[in-house]
Amino acid sequence: MKLGVNIDHIAVLREARQVNDPNPLDALPICKLAGADQITIHLREDRRHIRDHDAKNIIAHSSLPINLECAVAPEIIDIVTRLKPHRATIVPEKREEVTTEGGLSVTGKQKSLKKAIEQLQKHEIEVSLFIDPTFESIEAAHSLGVEWIEFHTGKYANIYAMLYSNLGNTPYAIPTLDLPRAELAKMLHDELKTLRCLSGDAAEMGLRVAAGHGLNYQNVQEIVAIEMIEELNIGQSIIARSIYTGLEQAIADMRALLIR
Ligand code: PXP
Repeated sequence: MKLGVNIDHIAVLREARQVNDPNPLDALPICKLAGADQITIHLREDRRHIRDHDAKNIIAHSSLPINLECAVAPEIIDIVTRLKPHRATIVPEKREEVTTEGGLSVTGKQKSLKKAIEQLQKHEIEVSLFIDPTFESIEAAHSLGVEWIEFHTGKYANIYAMLYSNLGNTPYAIPTLDLPRAELAKMLHDELKTLRCLSGDAAEMGLRVAAGHGLNYQNVQEIVAIEMIEELNIGQSIIARSIYTGLEQAIADMRALLIR
């Protein structure tokens, strides 16, 4: 299974001080050495972490493929076509959100999405849509002609955290629902079943399947067990661990959990 390491949070730390340190560019050789297969970055419209010069330098200097997450906004798509990453993952963006809270809602956006996807593909950039795990989203992605989909695993991660929070080892989310354990266990089982079934459906339609959001050292293995998911993009948990272990070890630890 492929591992895309999302290095946005290195730029988050830099922006907290508005200085030049740490530079996300310095992470590239470490990610490669530790066994990452891809670097993922998000050039947000508000440029709250990765900035245009970061994206430019990372794409120019990385020996690993770059997966550039972006909104469907025309000015951002124009920038992405000039930057020419290996892949563009179209994600929803809300200015006030702390992180990408859900998958892309395709309904009502078909026209702008189609235009953006065609523009990216014309520049030989493969396209992925970050979607919630629903059949309608896969069908929509398929009809839009993208090569990849990435399932938003936030709901899975949230349920996992609620179920196992009493073990004190689930840093992803603060539990918000006070549900009986049996109910949470069923919700987790159902969400995994949904992810498994939809990954199969997507693969049958010829889509390549990635997943990400909220995955960490505790909850990742159930996702790894879904064979049709080819790749995971993981940021928060790896960068958080790297503070204590160093980036190389944090990536290597995650890499070890991705073995099938
Ligand atoms: N994949 C996509 C499309 C994302 O937008 C993000 C960040 O929200 C991630 C993966 C990584 O999520 P996390 O930082 O929770 O691991």
